Amino acid sequence: MSGPNTDYDPVEVTPLKSEEVESARDDALAAIADATDLETLKQVRIDHTGDRSPLALANREIGALPPQARKEAGQRIGKARGAVNQALAARTSVLEAEHEERMLVEETVDVTLPTDRVPPGARHPITTGSELIADIFVAMGWEVAEGPVIEAEWLNFDALNLGPDHPARTMQDTFWTDPQDNGIVLRTHTSPVQARTMLTRTPPIYVVCPGRVFRTDEYDATHSPVFHQVEGLAIDEGISMAHLKGTLDHFATAMFGEGITTRFRPSYFPFTEPSAEVDLVCFVCRGATVVDGGDGPVACRTCRGEGWIEWGGCGVVNPRVLRACGVDSDRYSGFAFGMGIDRTLMFRHGLEDLRDLFEGDVRFTTAFGTEI
Ligand code: DAH
Repeated sequence: MSGPNTDYDPVEVTPLKSEEVESARDDALAAIADATDLETLKQVRIDHTGDRSPLALANREIGALPPQARKEAGQRIGKARGAVNQALAARTSVLEAEHEERMLVEETVDVTLPTDRVPPGARHPITTGSELIADIFVAMGWEVAEGPVIEAEWLNFDALNLGPDHPARTMQDTFWTDPQDNGIVLRTHTSPVQARTMLTRTPPIYVVCPGRVFRTDEYDATHSPVFHQVEGLAIDEGISMAHLKGTLDHFATAMFGEGITTRFRPSYFPFTEPSAEVDLVCFVCRGATVVDGGDGPVACRTCRGEGWIEWGGCGVVNPRVLRACGVDSDRYSGFAFGMGIDRTLMFRHGLEDLRDLFEGDVRFTTAFGTEI
């Protein structure tokens, strides 16, 4: 039998008294049970398990007890804290489940309700405009051809008889790709599709090639570094300038209405000989140069009183181009033309600013939505 424990010095540490610990635990459990939402529970967690909570403070006092008493006190506090943590975890999952349930009810959307809030999409006028142009030619038995926008320098320039010193090759006009001597450019016109077509098909060839082109132009109301062109190419036996004129007159009438024809002005393009600029009868004054201004005739604003509008370039395909692209220039001849699609659409729809076509504002494009 051991004698009485004379070492035991029953130091009274108030926070560690059984009643104190139990009441701290009961307070915590009551507060947890009372918490009806996650926000409140968060505060309860801080108040009852945080560093300054009664149980945490009590825990810290264990060290003040004589060694023999520490174990028992430690177990008691540990049990109380465990009960609080368990109750907290249980309450948290109950409140989280309730919260989730409530959100599901509150945020319920009846997906079957009818709505007119989703505006119908509209195809872009450049897309529909390009298709309209292609259709005009397909109706005459032509085919649509396409080429890449990242193009070989040779096809963009050399094959089209644009010599190495031609000014269009300079940095001001052409976007070159790195490294600059790799001979790859962003195509500056749709004319390389002519070369590609002649290289891959045998005459007779009748193709129209709408597409995107690139030049180092400033972006303003009439210029953009990215724009659209449509190229036309006809190669057959006995093709002459007269076929070109007839074709473009038909194109103009189909695009702008009866009576809108074209005139040619002599010009120069390396890939055609002879070459011409094509003008369009002004579709507003219809060539009259004046319109009714209310108080009498005033100069037509659309053509600036000229009666004609510049439309594009054209000509009889230069035999050098035919030969570079493997076409027998003794047997075949051809004509070609190139127009700006954006410009054509600006005329057709009376658009004042080219940028409207590129900025993707649905209020603008929706206005074209119903056009077929
Ligand atoms: N490629 C010319 C340009 O971008 C337009 C052009 C002119 C195309 C005459 C042709 C043509 O096919 O014959 O300015």
